Amino acid sequence: MSEQRNTSTQQHATSGSKVAGFARTSATAQTLIRNFCIIAHIDHGKSTLADRLLEITGTVEKRNMKAQLLDKMDLEREKGITIKLAPVRMNYKINISHSPLAIHNTSSINHEPLNEVNSKRITENARKTVNGKGVNGQVEYQLNLIDTPGHVDFSYEVSRSLAACEGALLVVDATQGIQAQTLANVYLALAADLTIIPVLNKIDLPMADVKRVSAEVESLLGCKPEDVLHISAKTGQGVEAILKKIVEKIPPPSGKSYDDGNGVAPRGLIFDSYYDDYRGVILYIRMFDGQIHDGDEIYTMGSKAKAIALYTGILTPDMKPMSMLRTGEIGYIITNLKSTRDAKVGDTITISNNQADKPLPGYKEVKPFVYAGFFPESNESYQELKDAIEKLSLSDSALQFEPENSPVLGFGVRVGFLGLLHMDIVRERLEREYNLSLIITNPSTDYQISLLNGEEIDIKSATDLPDPAKIREIREPWIKGEVVAPKDYLGAVIQLVMSKRGLQKNVSYVDARLAVLDFEAPLANLLTDFYDQLKSATSGYGSFNYELADYRAEDLVKLDFYIAGERVDALSLMVHRTEAQSLGRNTVEKLKEVIPRQNFQVSLQAGIGGKFIAREDISAYRKDVTTGLYGGDVSRKKKVLAKQAKGKKRLKRFGKVDIPTEAFTVMLKRD
Ligand code: GTP
Repeated sequence: MSEQRNTSTQQHATSGSKVAGFARTSATAQTLIRNFCIIAHIDHGKSTLADRLLEITGTVEKRNMKAQLLDKMDLEREKGITIKLAPVRMNYKINISHSPLAIHNTSSINHEPLNEVNSKRITENARKTVNGKGVNGQVEYQLNLIDTPGHVDFSYEVSRSLAACEGALLVVDATQGIQAQTLANVYLALAADLTIIPVLNKIDLPMADVKRVSAEVESLLGCKPEDVLHISAKTGQGVEAILKKIVEKIPPPSGKSYDDGNGVAPRGLIFDSYYDDYRGVILYIRMFDGQIHDGDEIYTMGSKAKAIALYTGILTPDMKPMSMLRTGEIGYIITNLKSTRDAKVGDTITISNNQADKPLPGYKEVKPFVYAGFFPESNESYQELKDAIEKLSLSDSALQFEPENSPVLGFGVRVGFLGLLHMDIVRERLEREYNLSLIITNPSTDYQISLLNGEEIDIKSATDLPDPAKIREIREPWIKGEVVAPKDYLGAVIQLVMSKRGLQKNVSYVDARLAVLDFEAPLANLLTDFYDQLKSATSGYGSFNYELADYRAEDLVKLDFYIAGERVDALSLMVHRTEAQSLGRNTVEKLKEVIPRQNFQVSLQAGIGGKFIAREDISAYRKDVTTGLYGGDVSRKKKVLAKQAKGKKRLKRFGKVDIPTEAFTVMLKRD
């Protein structure tokens, strides 16, 4: 990704002096700015819709259009998911006779009507703009779109994108209907007080059930059937109407403008940041108050770092230098920061010589809660792995790592992630971009431990568990989850949740067909195959969303695994005592499937505190070493057999079993 981004930053690199040749022409009146994002469940068509909007507004010419233009990472294209946010500015001209400004007074679904003074001001401003620069009675609006990642691992990023906007397009796949992620996003958008414009997508497909899904959306948002737009992002049908609705319904930004009075202290929200090899850290910003110019010394109010705003600009979707960002605008700032840790998503930036008093609300540190060991297949590559992950973490402030040493796997790193998809992305980037062959251990959560001597510690791997005799309490992370599924499957879903030690909290209904189950469960039990099991329990209709709730004290033990009598640290895991037996048995069975037979018998055991609770044996190939020794001396035959037995023993004693790499992720193996 950074490579693709580098090419666009070359514009700055080659422009020589600051913003040479890129002076800003004229600014859009604040009243003509609309900031919005697209929220949807995975695959409901956000990126395809964004492509159509870029096309219709002429932001990207049709011949330069490739599918899902905003999904810039190769991985995003291959997996068909949005990982990184990419804001883009579009200009949209609308005929003044169709100007929506009057309509702005009508109540939108989720937004209070604008008061009279405001609406008068907006209308006047629009006229001024029309008189000043409008052509043929047209008003040109500045539409800033943020395409958001659809996956639960990145819900904090989604929440910050929402905070950067006044409105949201809620895209629902007309063949699928409302899903868990749809609900989660709607709640986030409502909490951020956004105007929601509901859109039914994929109406071109024969399976589209427009009537039913529209009724679901109406019931969820409490809106009228005519409020729900029907489109096909693929063919473009109905998409233009969305643009009109955006300017009609979504209010303009309301921050304090620099023109309003003297020295408004600037405040900008960082809703994404990444590290560029050539330029350092680049921030994506929504300006709330005031303005930031090229050359300003900026200050991040959360992480308290100072830096220079080297260049500011907008994305169209390529970088376009502008020399300043003003109230209400969305754009980028190229800084001289060396790591995104100094300017995290959600932080507020202001400028050093005119600092804002208060940061914008909502900043929080996102902490990883899923951990796995990453080891190079060959130990010589350890330094390469360390360098690569250090580099990735410059761009990904949620990524944390520390060195780890395993007797079996050698030197590696223990890496913390926001979820399994995040882990997958990092693994693939290390393998593709850095050419590393990796062994990855079973993912686990972290655990908080209170010791009898009053000390509190946090462990990220079962191997770090202190002596149980010294432990007073172990706490594990629990999540608040929500499953959305047709009500006929509710029984099966509840059963599944209970089987994960989950607690059913509430059942509600979106409409007569669709049920929502709220539950709580230990995160560790949902890490491996919960999603697949949910899909099979609900014939593919169920969807799931969660957020971290708290850490709860439970009767947890460390489950160890022994191969040929030797404990393999990299396989140890934390488990609830009541589940240890079945998990131990299940895992040794899976290990038996992946470890090849050796020329001696190999025992596979699970144990707690040295006490074995499950065992499987892989029988030996019995190589007949006496073949060819027919006739002759019996004692010679005996001697050879004894040698073979000794060999077997030695192999057992030294644990010389070839363990294939998949054994270390055996927990992820499907039953
Ligand atoms: P994530 O980034 O994973 O959250 O997905 P997304 O919501 O951005 O969905 P995306 O735009 O990648 O679309 C998912 C799939 O649906 C792609 O194969 C699209 O081609 C297809 N698709 C999107 N909109 C339409 C539509 O209106 N009609 C049809 N037939 N297919 C569509």
